[in-house]
Amino acid sequence: MNAGAPIGVFDSGLGGLTVVRALRARMPDESLLYVGDTARVPYGPKSPETVRRYSTQIAGWLVDQGVKVIVVACNTATAHALSALQESMPVPVIGVVEPGARAAVATTRGGAIGVIGTLGTIASGAYERAIHALAPSVDVRVQACPLFVPLVEEGWIDHPATKLIAHEYLAPLRQTPIDTLVLGCTHYPLLAPLIASEMGPDVMLIDSADETAAETQRLLRAAGALAAAGATATHRFVASDAPDRFLALGRRFLDDAMTSVELVAFA
Ligand code: DGL
Repeated sequence: MNAGAPIGVFDSGLGGLTVVRALRARMPDESLLYVGDTARVPYGPKSPETVRRYSTQIAGWLVDQGVKVIVVACNTATAHALSALQESMPVPVIGVVEPGARAAVATTRGGAIGVIGTLGTIASGAYERAIHALAPSVDVRVQACPLFVPLVEEGWIDHPATKLIAHEYLAPLRQTPIDTLVLGCTHYPLLAPLIASEMGPDVMLIDSADETAAETQRLLRAAGALAAAGATATHRFVASDAPDRFLALGRRFLDDAMTSVELVAFA
């Protein structure tokens, strides 16, 4: 593994920038290459085969660009494609579901965990499997929130319509004994204040971004492939459609780290 090579990160759109933010906070010396598949967002309602095909195209492109590791900064792609990517890619591939499950199990006090995600992630059962592999007796309650991703991609982070929709989606979970709620979609941390106010102060929100960044750091350290301290980190951002729009919205979350976005078509 070449320590000076970038970390490759991809998502269907903007959501994976929450993982980029966590990677930068932990490893400021690392170069990053991010792909947002804005031409084909959302992945949530698409079939597992389609999401696997898109994920394989993007991961293959990242490998061609010389990345040393790939972080699948998308729960839907992790749920449908992680094992296929781990088998087919010549570099290590890390997903977001396992780290999120681990953080939730470490956080719950009463043994009841809620998970919200896209239709695809929830239907895959990936979180139940990951949580039960760590803690078989934990009660897991799940809820798909399919409108959250388009609202975030629209930049409607604190909009009255988003509040109303969050209120509706989260109502069933408010009737359960959960004390921990996994934001099982990388877009959702951008709605965290709104989700927290709906769930109340007794429910801890789990954002798998930081856990995923920690796992990436552990893997690179174990492989002796961390970038040298003080190395000049470069941050390259790619979108598969409308890069200017991606730049404008992305800068709201990453500020000065994002100065330009390139257009690359994957189909
Ligand atoms: N941010 C993604 C996730 O974590 C994908 C959302 C979507 O494209 O539907 O699931």
